[in-house]
Amino acid sequence: MNAINPNWRVLTIGDGDLSFSAALAKKLTGGHLTATVFDSLETLSEKYGLSHYQQLKSLGVDVVTSVDVTDPQTWQEIGQSNQSKFDLVIFQFPLIPNDFSASQYQQLSAQGSTNTLNRWLLHCFVKHCFEHFLAPDGQRLAVITSKDVKPYRQWNIETSLLNGLTGRYLGRSNFDIESFNGYQVRNVDRDKFVKDTQAYSYYFSDKPQELLEAELEMPAYCDNPQYCAMCRVGPIETQQDWQAHLGSKRHVKMDEFEQQWRDWLAQRQC
Ligand SMILES: C[S@@+](CC[C@H](N)C(=O)[O-])C[C@H]1O[C@@H](n2cnc3c(N)ncnc32)[C@H](O)[C@@H]1O
Repeated sequence: MNAINPNWRVLTIGDGDLSFSAALAKKLTGGHLTATVFDSLETLSEKYGLSHYQQLKSLGVDVVTSVDVTDPQTWQEIGQSNQSKFDLVIFQFPLIPNDFSASQYQQLSAQGSTNTLNRWLLHCFVKHCFEHFLAPDGQRLAVITSKDVKPYRQWNIETSLLNGLTGRYLGRSNFDIESFNGYQVRNVDRDKFVKDTQAYSYYFSDKPQELLEAELEMPAYCDNPQYCAMCRVGPIETQQDWQAHLGSKRHVKMDEFEQQWRDWLAQRQC
């Protein structure tokens, strides 16, 4: 993640065991951090223990539990006034929970594929950042860090996630876990660590960000018509190669995900 100004007001979303927020708190010397987790305090304690929670509290960090970023009812107390809004909101390694009961799972999969539901989680995150969490006169940055392997790279975070929203994708930077001392990426449901693989932080904003954009990488597939953006392949130079690609198993699968996503967005709003 690119340099975080130590004076910024930062909000973290869905921070599993709070180890990311604990590492981040040490970097924010003049700023302020509010950390949130999806789980209740009781579940947080059962899954991971409360050491990071207590550490944050002792540093004066606001920690809010039971925060579902898709559901405004659960974050009434965060960012209510302009004074308590943020410059930067971060969601590290988002993933919908998968500890559903069989009937909950049946109900959810009747609504959408896990690919769609994960995109929806991130789409709502970005929308609520722009509309609620970010200070009107602040930096106005939303960041998602995610792994660059399947199934995460099939969410098309860089190309179609923001469809229908006002913000823009600015580019990405390598996520260097080593610069967050003590941070352990947690599995979504269990007390396990996630394997360390290449990950990127993806940046979004709804205000001009020339300086930051100059530091970020914008992959060619995002804006070069010689690439298939959703499959991230190219350059594809001949008609024949395009035909072969369009008929490939990979493209057909990605096309199916994109169609599901378009249909989903056509029917609902966060
Ligand atoms: C793979 S874990 C990563 C946890 C943590 N961010 C980290 O980096 O270690 C995915 C996280 O997303 C959170 N999450 C899933 N759905 C959410 C939602 N609707 N609102 C907020 N957080 C959510 C889960 O609770 C879980 O902690």
